Amino acid sequence: MMLNDYFAESVKHVAVKAAEFIEENFGAVRQSDIVTKDLNSLVSYVDVGAEKIIIEGLSKILPDSTFLAEEGGGGEQTEGDVRWIVDPLDGTTNFLHQIPVFAVSIALQVKGEIVFGLVYEVNRKECFHAIKGKGAFLNNEPIKPKEPELSDAMIATGFPYYDFSKAEEYLRVINDIIRSTRGLRRMGAAAVDLAYVACGRFDGFFEYSLSPWDVAAGALIVQEAGSVVTDFKGGDDWLFGESIVAGSPQIHQGLLQLLIKHFGS
Ligand code: IPD
Ligand code: CA
Ligand code: CA
Repeated sequence: MMLNDYFAESVKHVAVKAAEFIEENFGAVRQSDIVTKDLNSLVSYVDVGAEKIIIEGLSKILPDSTFLAEEGGGGEQTEGDVRWIVDPLDGTTNFLHQIPVFAVSIALQVKGEIVFGLVYEVNRKECFHAIKGKGAFLNNEPIKPKEPELSDAMIATGFPYYDFSKAEEYLRVINDIIRSTRGLRRMGAAAVDLAYVACGRFDGFFEYSLSPWDVAAGALIVQEAGSVVTDFKGGDDWLFGESIVAGSPQIHQGLLQLLIKHFGS
């Protein structure tokens, strides 16, 4: 398998097809089409339809690959040597409320390692991608983070919305962050948050209770841009471990200290 510009363009083509389907349905989903999967976790035919487009397209690029896809498409979600990790619509709640921040997120994992990531932000038609060892790009232009002091940093997060088991600790972290940074944002799409960290729009991001499809692509893009990704303890269990903190080295360190202070080490 050749991970090169042609490969990236082929995956982008698939993401754009899904994004067009998502865009066509913006504002068109009826209340009766929305299903509540879990507390505050919504889904509609748009998520499922976008996933179908993606799985069909990616299967043509790598016929023997398997899938770990949020809406369960792509057959048995067994761990093959070559596996796509797909969130067909990251930011579903934004989409359903007609808030224009949502993305298609596609990562490729080979023998357990993420080697390719692509986040396509539907509304601005921005394509972020990274190939392991080859850097990170926004619309094919190289990206890198800014490296501000914590006091000048713009931080992103995702609020707990179904798992409130650590809400107290989380609020204590936020209390510290709003006093020590320039600002804190909750955009509602983790893949976009990570892509924005990679290109320096955000300087750091943290969230708990995320799933692998929320972070797989974005985290590689962050790393390839030259920033750091860990779990809340500073370890590397961010893909399945349900906690992630990302940022340019100094900001990551600052956030990690606060997370360890309140969540423990
Ligand atoms: C969600 C978004 C959101 C994050 C949630 C995710 P979805 O993904 O990334 O920002 O806070 O935890 O589940 O459900 O819109 O694909
Ligand atoms: Ca998601
Ligand atoms: Ca989703």
